[in-house]
Amino acid sequence: MAEPKKLFIKTYGCQMNVYDSERMAEAMGGAGYVETQTPDDADMILLNTCHIREKAAEKVYSELGRFRELKDAKPDLKIGVAGCVAQAEGEEIMRRQPLVDLVVGPQSYHRLPQMEAKVRDGAKALDTDFPLDDKFDTLRKRAKAKRGPTAFLTVQEGCDKFCAFCVVPYTRGAEVSRPADRIIEEARELVDRGVREITLLGQNVNAYHGAGPDGDMTLAGLIWELDKIDGLARIRFTTSHPNDMADDLIEAHGTCAKLMPYLHLPVQSGSDKILKRMNRSHTAESYLRLIERIREARPDILMSGDFIVGFPEETEEDFQATMDLIEEVNYGYAYSFKYSTRPGTPAAERPQVDEEVKSDRLQRLQALITRQQRAAQEAMVGRSVNVLFEKPGRLPGQMVGKSDYLHAVHVTDASIQPGDILPVKIIDSGTNSLSGEVLRRAAE
Ligand code: SAH
Ligand code: SF4
Ligand code: F3S
Repeated sequence: MAEPKKLFIKTYGCQMNVYDSERMAEAMGGAGYVETQTPDDADMILLNTCHIREKAAEKVYSELGRFRELKDAKPDLKIGVAGCVAQAEGEEIMRRQPLVDLVVGPQSYHRLPQMEAKVRDGAKALDTDFPLDDKFDTLRKRAKAKRGPTAFLTVQEGCDKFCAFCVVPYTRGAEVSRPADRIIEEARELVDRGVREITLLGQNVNAYHGAGPDGDMTLAGLIWELDKIDGLARIRFTTSHPNDMADDLIEAHGTCAKLMPYLHLPVQSGSDKILKRMNRSHTAESYLRLIERIREARPDILMSGDFIVGFPEETEEDFQATMDLIEEVNYGYAYSFKYSTRPGTPAAERPQVDEEVKSDRLQRLQALITRQQRAAQEAMVGRSVNVLFEKPGRLPGQMVGKSDYLHAVHVTDASIQPGDILPVKIIDSGTNSLSGEVLRRAAE
């Protein structure tokens, strides 16, 4: 039998890219490739890229340059660019970096095996279509191998919201939901392979409205279907838009035991003027009231968010409104970014905020968020929380997992297996993680 060829995939960007990379590896598995963890022995390298901020896109070009030596040493090595930079700059990548053999967008990667055959013959291949054939259907069957206890599952893709700063509607296309039965089938397969926690993914996951047996299903409807799967212990979803936080979803946070008490709900800014210019179509006040309702349904829910500082025309007063909103919400976690100009988006054409001002605001915002994060972690000390253990930690006998609230938790206990969900008494809070010990019942 011929040696299998080796595929190295490097993933940038959001969780959806992580999911897509897994599916690309599966597609290439059908073409005789196995995955390798290093580019050095690869026959094909794929960069699954992110276009969300300027730095993310530039990283791709510097990374590609580094493969020159590898390609000189092994002329048969094929190099491909996938993901959102591929979608946005397909032809330009080929022009700018002749090392690249193949460019494939996020909606057409199920065609990778055919593209691979083409580049093996020495041609170049570019496919950034939004094809009519559904990539999820073509990739229906996942390999049956055992896998870790947590998995991502894409249920919705694309975005119709067109926030004035964002490239996603251009790179991922219009909002599309997958049919519920396909998702449930995929979830069952994942559970059969050892998965205990599924995170449903979508750029606007709570706008999910896939076909169900009795017409379109909401995200809450889908969650209740998944709730029926024996062996699946935890359900999460990300990323949500405030305007799509429907009543049945808020309610599910109070009533569905498998739905975890963590919600990522980006607001971007606390200034109504800026929110309007961002085309967010909600106000700071409506966001705060929404969180109030979510907390009524699930008082202990941990909130997380995204913030952009230095959006065009953001004044110190606007920035202060964001700081006030953060104070009021009290986040358990947050991601924050300096506004980055994305060519082709409306905000790119507007008067820009100075780089130093952006840096200063980011620093102040991050200091506040860090304080809140630490406080949320420290509030766990002394409490008992359920932890899904995922893998060994760095110390001997140590296992690492995630609490219901998504905090990383370390426990030193040689009897714990990956996939175990155990009550843990939290003893200490470190910089980025908690530590504790398993609470065992007296009978054990
Ligand atoms: N669909 C999700 C997330 C999209 S991208 C949502 O709507 O929330 C993830 C985050 O990147 C965004 O929430 C935003 O905070 C940030 N982001 C997007 N475009 C950006 C830009 N041009 N500059 C800086 N940050 C940006
Ligand atoms: Fe981008 Fe806005 Fe869509 Fe989120 S909702 S993906 S930020 S356009
Ligand atoms: Fe980046 Fe594309 Fe995700 S731009 S954040 S990889 S949708």
